[in-house]
Amino acid sequence: MTSPMTLTVDPTPTAPALTLRPWQDSDIPALVVAHGDQAMRRWLIRPIDDEDQARAWVADQHTGWADQTHLSWAVEEGGTLVGYFVIKAASPPKTLATGLGYWTVAGARGKGIASRCVDTATQWLFGGQDVMPSDEIELLHTVGNEGSCRVAHKCGYILDSVLPSMPPKFPDEAHRHLRKRPV
Ligand SMILES: CC(C)(COP(=O)(O)OP(=O)(O)OC[C@H]1O[C@@H](n2cnc3c(N)ncnc32)[C@H](O)[C@@H]1OP(=O)(O)O)[C@@H](O)C(=O)NCCC(=O)NCCS
Repeated sequence: MTSPMTLTVDPTPTAPALTLRPWQDSDIPALVVAHGDQAMRRWLIRPIDDEDQARAWVADQHTGWADQTHLSWAVEEGGTLVGYFVIKAASPPKTLATGLGYWTVAGARGKGIASRCVDTATQWLFGGQDVMPSDEIELLHTVGNEGSCRVAHKCGYILDSVLPSMPPKFPDEAHRHLRKRPV
């Protein structure tokens, strides 16, 4: 069992540091607001509709830490919730790669927040940590999600393959981007 931990994304010359911290029940109202955005509803598999769903989702993030299936963080900038970041454990035989996922709140987009989180998580995963051993990391997004595709490319995740649609859960094709541990 892994206790939830905090990660810090370094500041840049133009942007403050980001704090990745465990989710709390006090995030529930902000989660509902964030998921009301059109892009969230378009690109997320299970957008949150109300506070009951948000509460269940927060509980699931705690379970993810407890069973180490997914390490999930609220991303804060200056004490304000600006996004979500997750590292998902490999699930063989489906995939041997550790997975990344993210969203940012509508008002915080286009400022490099998702990319900086991906860079920090990549360094952490390929660094000396032993929480989630990883030789390769994958980043999946629906074909047509150009913002997410751009984040992947900016962070050095090459397009590895196009995954077929699998309705009803995955009605669209997806890009699988991959980064391997440097030799
Ligand atoms: C995808 C998402 C996470 C990106 O977050 P972000 O914090 O804005 O990401 P960044 O600022 O690090 O980078 C976004 C890049 O995509 C580009 N971009 C955004 N929308 C784009 C579009 N429609 N077409 C092409 N590029 C686009 C931005 O210009 C930026 O690239 P640049 O730095 O070269 O200018 C955010 O848009 C989001 O939360 N979308 C809704 C949920 C979602 O799609 N989650 C991902 C599921 S896989």
